[in-house]
This record gives sequence, structure tokens and C-alpha cells, in this order.
Amino acid sequence: MASPRTKQPRKRKLAARWAGREGLSEDRAVSSQVLAQSYPSNNLPMAEQTIPATEPTQAAADGQPVIRLENVHKTYDLGEIQVQALRGISITVREGEFVAVMGPSGSGKSTVMNILGCLDRPTRGHYYLDGVDVSGMTKTELARIRNRKLGFVFQQFNLLSRTSALENVELPTVYAGLNPEERTNRAMESLTRVGLADRAGHHPSQLSGGQQQRVAIARALVNRPAILLADEPTGNLDSRTSVEIMHILQTLNDEQGLTIVLVTHEQDIAQYAKRTLEFRDGKLRRDNIIRDRFVAREVLQTLPTAEEQAAEDAEENARQEKLAGGDGAG
Ligand SMILES: Nc1ncnc2c1ncn2[C@@H]1O[C@H](COP(=O)(O)OP(=O)(O)OP(=O)(O)O)[C@@H](O)[C@H]1O
Ligand SMILES: [Mg+2]
Repeated sequence: MASPRTKQPRKRKLAARWAGREGLSEDRAVSSQVLAQSYPSNNLPMAEQTIPATEPTQAAADGQPVIRLENVHKTYDLGEIQVQALRGISITVREGEFVAVMGPSGSGKSTVMNILGCLDRPTRGHYYLDGVDVSGMTKTELARIRNRKLGFVFQQFNLLSRTSALENVELPTVYAGLNPEERTNRAMESLTRVGLADRAGHHPSQLSGGQQQRVAIARALVNRPAILLADEPTGNLDSRTSVEIMHILQTLNDEQGLTIVLVTHEQDIAQYAKRTLEFRDGKLRRDNIIRDRFVAREVLQTLPTAEEQAAEDAEENARQEKLAGGDGAG
């Protein structure tokens, strides 16, 4: 197995666009301080077999196509200028796949996720979701499909701050029209799946970043979606917590066959997926199958737990103090 991640840059990113449309904008009016992150755009560290981007990978999974983009273009019309965010994207994602979308800042990753998530429509081209062309649907029709078929996870968690974990997770079931008892049962079941049943009554501020992201994953799962879409879900988390999140995603994918599409800037996060799609300048440049997949469960065994790390730090501090004391006396 290749070496797992050792460090995690802390980043702040824009997820408010999605959050606002989901009606979850209470917490963060995140500014558009889009990350000016250097990305090795000319030298992408891809060790896997490369498949020409124009040929959608058929071998990646045996399942039925759940997502099919056909020559999708997206142009943002800003009056004076037009931004061509997507310039002819064709992708097929099959049931049970775990895809990591990569590429430099501004390459169109979030734009394509917005379209996959039925939050936005292509300017040109077609999007078939479960075989149905959704490209021409009205906003109301898209909202219904979104609630039924898709779950979302964002970098900023986007939880409602004055609301318990349980109530946060229940929220999408309100729109799905479930009765209150069924809603609570579903939300508890979902929290259990991410290992947080014992934190149901906690508010987001009483939870760690990783726990908040797990609540967000539980919320994304509560309506039993066919597809989970995650835009940089580990972008605000430290390395161990990131691997814990990837462990949850791998378990959902491996054991429950959940189809996952995840955006990440980080190669070592992408390495937990089964396939990578690399974007550049609004085009799909590469479509790779991951050969040496990281297994989060194994990687976690090699990383210190939070408690071990704290103990190590305390020991190191004590050692330094002793050294300093010794110097003073001598
Ligand atoms: N609502 C919008 N209006 C106008 N232009 C937009 C809008 N959203 C995105 N763009 C532009 O479209 C292009 C693609 O943006 P997108 O957000 O998809 O990039 P990204 O790959 O997700 O980048 P990052 O890694 O920084 O999140 C960029 O040039 C961006 O400035
Ligand atoms: Mg983005």
C-alpha cells in the first residue's frame, strides 16, 4: 500500500452556494474567498492506468449507469462577459462506483457537481439521472428528484447551529413527507450508521469537526439516496479525521453499494475512491481507474488516535520543560 496522508492543509472554501439553495444558509454566509491553492496542474501525480477522457470508463463497475452526462456545457452569463465553466463534458457513472473528481481551482468541479446534484442545469447537452433526462426539468421537478435520489455533503458541514444533531438529520425527511415517528426513526438509524447515536442531542458547537461532518453525512443518507455527492468533505479536517470520514464513505460504498461522487484537491484522499476524473479548464482531461486503493480501515490503524496524540504531546512538553529546567539549574 502506498503511504497514507501525513498532513492536511486547512482550507476555507465556498459551499454557501449549495447551502443557500438547500435552504441551509443560517450558519455560514461563507465569503467567496475561493482558495488560491497551488495545484500541480502540469504534473499530476497519477500512478494509475490512464484512459482517454473522451471514452467513459465502462470497466470501472458492472452496475447500471446512474449518471450520464452527454456533451454538457455550462456558461455563466455575467452580462459583459460569459464564463465557460464546462466545455463539453461526457461522463458515465455506474451503480456502486466511487468517483473522485479532481483538478485545479476554477476547472469546473463544483459546476459539474451542481449539475449532478440537480441544483443547476446545463446550458447545453444532456444529463440522464437513472436513465431519465433531467436537463430540461423545472426547478420544482428537480427539487423533488434531489430530495428522493441524492444526498449532499459539503466542506463546511452546513448544519443548523441552534438545532440538535438529530433535528439536523431529520430535516430532509420533512420535505419527503414522512410522519414524525418515522422521521425520528430514520434520523436515528442514519446517525447510528455514522457512529453518532450517542450524540443525537448535541448541537453542532458541542461536536468536533469530524463529528459535525458525520452528522452531515447522516443527514445526506436519511432519505436513502441512490447517490451521495460530496464537495471537498475533508477540506476542513485534520488528517486522521479525514481518514475517518473516508472510512465511512468506503463502508457505505463497499457494504451498501452506495454510489459516491466526491470532489477533492488531494491525491491521497482521491486514492480511497475507485476512479478519478480530472478536470482542467472546463474539460475532462483524464479518467483513471485507481489500482492501489487506500483502505481507510487499515490506514487508521497506522495513525495515532486523538488521545494517543494528546498523550504524546503532553509527554513531549514535559520532556522539554524538564530540559529547560535542567539547563537553568546547570
Ligand atoms: N455562479 C457563477 N457565476 C459566474 N461564474 C461562475 C459561477 N460559478 C463558477 N463560476 C466560474 O466557473 C468556473 C468554474 O468554477 P467552479 O466553481 O466549478 O470551479 P472548481 O473547480 O470547483 O474550483 P475550486 O477548486 O476553487 O472549488 C470558474 O472560472 C468560476 O469563476
Ligand atoms: Mg469548487
